[in-house]
Amino acid sequence: MPFWVSPPGPFYLSEDALDLQAYLSGKIELVNKGLKELLHGEEEYPQNLHRAMHYSLFAGGKRVRPVLVLASAEAVGGSPAEALNTACAFECIHTYSLIHDDLPAIDNDDMRRGRPTCHKAFGEAAAILAGDALLTAAFELVAATKTSDPAKVIKVIAELSKASGSVGMIGGQMVDIESEGADVPFPVLEYIHIHKTGELILAAVRCGAIMGGAGKTELESLSRYGKSIGLAFQIADDILDVEGSAAEMGKNTGGDEKKGKATYPALIGLDESRKRAEELVAIALKSLEGFDGKADPLRAIARYIVERRK
Ligand code: IPE
Ligand code: IPE
Ligand code: MG
Ligand code: MG
Ligand code: MG
Repeated sequence: MPFWVSPPGPFYLSEDALDLQAYLSGKIELVNKGLKELLHGEEEYPQNLHRAMHYSLFAGGKRVRPVLVLASAEAVGGSPAEALNTACAFECIHTYSLIHDDLPAIDNDDMRRGRPTCHKAFGEAAAILAGDALLTAAFELVAATKTSDPAKVIKVIAELSKASGSVGMIGGQMVDIESEGADVPFPVLEYIHIHKTGELILAAVRCGAIMGGAGKTELESLSRYGKSIGLAFQIADDILDVEGSAAEMGKNTGGDEKKGKATYPALIGLDESRKRAEELVAIALKSLEGFDGKADPLRAIARYIVERRK
């Protein structure tokens, strides 16, 4: 057990006792079922739009963000059922961001989630529109949440819209594109990673906690956790682009270097990048010290984020 993991105490299970794969499979099934039930069907008119949305959504993504929503709700003693619409909304926004990220004008990628990218399969116009529709659907899903406390839904909408907008994910995407081929200083690299990827992951953790009824202190601790794993997630993504297997990841590797992307490995090297990711996981785990065994899935997900091979 790494030094930063608190030893198992009387109030919580040891992280090792949790079967993360089984936990993830259970939650992914819940999310997939939710997405199928809540979204318009694949064969609804206009078919090419709904087909493109389903094509990208149900292509086998890891579902990290919706699982974080559910795990965070559970960590504060909330019910995953009440957080399910929010979880599905995060996956819609994430999938939209991938469809647009892959477009010729952005990263120009051909493979995603083990199949041709949305624009390769459906054409650019349909891919842009499928992304637009997924983004909008996210807010429809959140608004349809069944809860006795609608104030929580308003808070989620505020968090989700800010995290995915111009001072969140899209801001990060903008600076990512503007920085291609440029000699960016470290603070700009950090801005890109925290915004293009970190903000949505942080918001997933926070919104799960909000739906679960977190108190102020719990929300603060979980925010520290979310910030740390959010940045660690993108550092791991950068590392996998250098040394991962395209077959395992379902997307092409080596593209960052070719495009002159601002990445951790490019700026500080692979070893330092790994070290930085591990340090962030340590901070994330430390942030959960006040939580009992209900936060074990969050602890396991933090480790998984830097140890994953896809
Ligand atoms: C890829 O996200 C894009 C980044 C923000 C790094 P994921 O690695 O979560 O992709 P999927 O959802 O599993 O396909
Ligand atoms: C994607 O970052 C971030 C968003 C989609 C918001 P990357 O461009 O590094 O993701 P991959 O490597 O294409 O999955
Ligand atoms: Mg990109
Ligand atoms: Mg990309
Ligand atoms: Mg990448």
